[in-house]
Amino acid sequence: MTSSSSSCTQNKNDNPIYFYDYHPAQADLLDEVIKGMKASPRVLAPKFFYDETGSKLFDAICKTKEYYPTRTEIDIIKNNLDDITKHIGDDCLLIEPGSGSSEKVRLMLDSINPKAYMPMDISKDYLRMAAEDIASEYPWLEVHAACVDYTQPFALPPCHTHARKVAFFPGSSIGNFDPEHAVDFLNHLAQMLRGEKEGGLLIGVDLKKDKQRLDAAYNDSDGYTAAFNQNLLNRISTELDAGFDPDNFSHRAFYNEELGRIEMHLISNEAHTVSIGEHHFKFEKDQSIHTESSYKYTIEEFQALAKKAGFVPVKVWTDPNKLFSVHYFKIQSA
Ligand code: AVI
Repeated sequence: MTSSSSSCTQNKNDNPIYFYDYHPAQADLLDEVIKGMKASPRVLAPKFFYDETGSKLFDAICKTKEYYPTRTEIDIIKNNLDDITKHIGDDCLLIEPGSGSSEKVRLMLDSINPKAYMPMDISKDYLRMAAEDIASEYPWLEVHAACVDYTQPFALPPCHTHARKVAFFPGSSIGNFDPEHAVDFLNHLAQMLRGEKEGGLLIGVDLKKDKQRLDAAYNDSDGYTAAFNQNLLNRISTELDAGFDPDNFSHRAFYNEELGRIEMHLISNEAHTVSIGEHHFKFEKDQSIHTESSYKYTIEEFQALAKKAGFVPVKVWTDPNKLFSVHYFKIQSA
């Protein structure tokens, strides 16, 4: 982060929206793809799934009957809203890293009544739109939107510096980090939340469960997850003028019980060569590109991981089938 700018606009209800632009460097798709194709086994980073088509496909995945995390997390929040509110307390600065369309936070805003809401996203236009929508739906709410790459260390915008800070990180997005990087990310979050007053973290974490249900969640019968995975190749081909043909690759997703993670791969259907500029990459039949890991935890495993970053477990809410968990952690004042 080399420079920053901030601005303040008024929405039609006259509540101000503050916008902090930390000019996050967009990950260089070409460099990362070439690096990933030279790695063994080959990899592509899951952050590249989310172009416009990928984001729409992800929304469709969340509505499939097999993908239980989204609806289960929503039910847990709705069913425990009073208790969650009690733990978060009112008057906090509510920070949401990777806020996207700020959908899930809407379940809680009226009840939590934060001093201010700070959505954070790397996508500037999308963040601006989402911040304007939420400010007009909640005319009483102060919105401070920060355009940042939340996976990299950065300083909090200078607003409500004396407020208690609580982060909301839903959707089990923490599962897309490998455990070592999850601790790094939580450490960085803990530094942001630590202040004069005790901070908190409300985080959604998908739980370990039978392989059958996990395999089904990442192989939905409507084929949205397969299309989401293959769209990565469409995106690379369009944006980099690369020669990936998505039809030459098949979606594969399975629960790796030993490592406690779903692995998503694109498997080459036949031996062929893909050209990206002057680079040529040979694929054998059945050769894989690893596109995503989604780690699953037991409640105790996740608490142990969060403790490594300085968080103190306070409360966990789950659904009757123990599919998903929502944790509240506190972080001691500085
Ligand atoms: C965003 N993330 C938590 C999802 C997950 O379950 O790992 C992404 C996803 N990949 C395939 N289906 C959903």
